[in-house]
Amino acid sequence: MSDKKAILEIDGIDQPIELPIYSGTLGPDVVDVGGLTSQGLFTYDPGFVSTASCESQITFIDGGKGILLHRGYPIGQLAEKSDYLETCYLLLYGELPTKEQKEEFVGTVHKHTMVNEQIRTFFNGFRRDAHPMAIMCGVVGALSAFYHDSLEISEEQHRQVAAFRLIAKMPTLAAMSYKFSTGQPFMYPDNSLSYSENFLHMMFGNPCESSNISPVLARAMDRIFLLHADHEQNASTSTVRLAGSSGANPFACIAAGIAALWGPSHGGANEAVLEMLEEIGDVSHIDDFVARAKDKDDPFRLMGFGHRVYKNFDPRAKVMKEAADEVLAELGIENDPLLEIAKRLEEIALHDEYFIDKKLYPNVDFYSGIILKAIGIPTSMFTVIFAVGRTVGWIAHWNEMISGSYRIGRPRQLYTGYPQRDFVPVDKR
Ligand code: SDX
Repeated sequence: MSDKKAILEIDGIDQPIELPIYSGTLGPDVVDVGGLTSQGLFTYDPGFVSTASCESQITFIDGGKGILLHRGYPIGQLAEKSDYLETCYLLLYGELPTKEQKEEFVGTVHKHTMVNEQIRTFFNGFRRDAHPMAIMCGVVGALSAFYHDSLEISEEQHRQVAAFRLIAKMPTLAAMSYKFSTGQPFMYPDNSLSYSENFLHMMFGNPCESSNISPVLARAMDRIFLLHADHEQNASTSTVRLAGSSGANPFACIAAGIAALWGPSHGGANEAVLEMLEEIGDVSHIDDFVARAKDKDDPFRLMGFGHRVYKNFDPRAKVMKEAADEVLAELGIENDPLLEIAKRLEEIALHDEYFIDKKLYPNVDFYSGIILKAIGIPTSMFTVIFAVGRTVGWIAHWNEMISGSYRIGRPRQLYTGYPQRDFVPVDKR
């Protein structure tokens, strides 16, 4: 905190209003506007462009410099040297685990990978062509119907168990939502496999033969989960915090986060990027699409470009781009047409004054779909993959809030509707 203050002089209010200013470890200072209500004032910030909704110690983003830190560690170092479950431990507990701590953590996750057999019947209520995100919203929220022993959120032990259950079961449920669409039998988790190997086993394995998981694909999958693990107070994380502030159980909160992530402006962008690249179809068409993206009268936007916070390269996009080259090379996929279009599109956009002026750079979603497609993940599952990776971030923020002091989130508004008026009977309207 700091002893700095803001002095607000307002027409019609005699005394200037003093507002405390707080400083964090990194990033902008914040003005505490809590005192405005007593002066009959609200702040106004649609889309929360300039609003810090909470104090947090989990992730730091410097959008101008393209910096992303998880508990202080740069995302590039974690992506190169760590793995997803180790990053989960870091996000949840604040420190990298020792060898023993990591083994215990991984072992506990493995104990929770199965889902109650009753949940298998839920899937039969969906059409086979249901979007997997629709299924995930439903079945994840329904988990709270099975775990009455971990819903007392004021108990740390309950919060811990719920965290393990969610991190461990998301891949199982995600793979089930895919298998259901194919008509193939669900695969049980195989706890002799790593987290990402297990996911690929449940996605592409079948009961008639043993799974032979490529270590290259498993490593790429793990890095995708890691790069999606957390991202400060983004729309879906803020949704989880707001749902959690009412005391809702963790499974309901994560289901709310999944719903928020689904939008094409957020996690749904990775699916939209692939559809866009397929619609572009050939590098010769790129200029037309770039022109459409710049046309105010055309709702088309370059999916995978732009970001509320990053006004420089999204550091995750850099890692994702490198990984795309590596994975395609290791799979012997030469000159993937979609990757060629993506690279050419990025090159054109980054030299176009519209994108330069508006500081629009590729974000995490621009290249991830190329890798997911190379791994064999269908486009409709891309946002589900994002949700699996982001579950730990949602839980870490939920737990940080619930384990501290918090109040129910209840924003106010600028009302511009009718002043009070009397009811008019229908025969007089
Ligand atoms: C994620 O918040 C997070 O951290 C999210 C995320 C995470 O890890 O949780 O990083 C994941 O959601 C990444 C973003 C994925 N979405 C997309 O790729 C969809 C395409 N991008 C945009 O829709 C947009 O850039 C947003 C939604 C990402 C950001 O929107 P903002 O901050 O509200 O910015 P804006 O819409 O006000 O755009 C500013 C200007 C506008 O032009 P003007 O009105 O000022 O003239 O830039 C233009 C926009 O028209 N613009 C684009 C554009 N993105 C913004 N123009 C063309 N193509 C685009 N992609």
